[in-house]
Amino acid sequence: MKILGIDTSCDDTSAALVADGNKILSSIVSSQSDIHKKYGGIVPELASRRHIEMIWPVVDGALNNAGITLDDIDAIAVCYGPGLIGSLLVGCGFAKSIAYAKEIPIVAVNHLEGHIFSVFLEHEKIEFPFLSLIASGGHTSLYIVNGFGQYVELGRTRDDAAGEAYDKVAKLLGLGYPGGPVIDKLAREGNPKAFDFPRAYVPESFDFSFSGLKTAVKLAISSQQSAININDIAASFQAAVVDVLIRKVEWAIVRKGIKKIALSGGVSANSELRRRMKEMAEEREVELFLPSLPFCTDNAAMIASAGYHHFKAGNIAGINLNPKAYLPL
Ligand code: KG4
Ligand code: ZN
Repeated sequence: MKILGIDTSCDDTSAALVADGNKILSSIVSSQSDIHKKYGGIVPELASRRHIEMIWPVVDGALNNAGITLDDIDAIAVCYGPGLIGSLLVGCGFAKSIAYAKEIPIVAVNHLEGHIFSVFLEHEKIEFPFLSLIASGGHTSLYIVNGFGQYVELGRTRDDAAGEAYDKVAKLLGLGYPGGPVIDKLAREGNPKAFDFPRAYVPESFDFSFSGLKTAVKLAISSQQSAININDIAASFQAAVVDVLIRKVEWAIVRKGIKKIALSGGVSANSELRRRMKEMAEEREVELFLPSLPFCTDNAAMIASAGYHHFKAGNIAGINLNPKAYLPL
């Protein structure tokens, strides 16, 4: 069964062909980073305009790379939220047009469900239940995944997402957008103990909070002025983020007794988080499932993977499908 996945929820235009929910036939992600870089964050209007320009070339490219045409696909899975409404409208409008013209069923996928299901693209054998940490630019949430459609949210961020904190700190340091990859790189040359930045552990809760950390970094930068060592700030900031993410996952393992962890979202590309999570998983004797770097960040293969399960369950969306900027899982 071949599914065309489409994701335009944020600033990447992506399309992928996935067979049987886990075999990637092709996957294309067209990044808009160069457009948004100079603003230090995503400009929603520019994002939706660029999606309009790129959606057909990206879908066409994904079909060509898979060596198939629209006549060969069984369903279109499109991300309908959460995300930037103008961006989502482009993907949903495009998917509905093709579905209507070619009489192909359409399934609607929640972006977070896509991130959860990204693990199946590279680890076919993972079994339920597993813990899923989604750490991205828009979300930081921890779930117990008991099966398709069975998600228990343990916690989520009360303010900034982890990736958002990376992006905001990068902006303060004049490092452009997105902040994660560049801070990850600079942190390798810095001292993680140079600054004692706060860790918001939010006692007795699986929730996260990163806005105080961002403010602490801002204060440190303004008090250092010209003597500022960017590498030390990056390393100390990153140590604080990673400490919190590791502690919460570890706590969930102990409290919930779950022996498998899957990471997803852009922040799961972070080298220090991956290193420390592997160490912790070994110590606790739990299985860790890490996506390869292209499947950490937004992609449409994960939407096709989750869409496959919706399709099998008969969850077909109508031509009146409307995207939603706010869409809890
Ligand atoms: O999953 P994603 O592509 O989009 C959302 O759904 O938000 O995540 C993008 C986020 C950005 O905030 C970016 O700075 C962060 O992931 N990111 C990283 C790294 N690579 C991307 N954060 C930390 N370290 C990285 N290596
Ligand atoms: Zn995402």
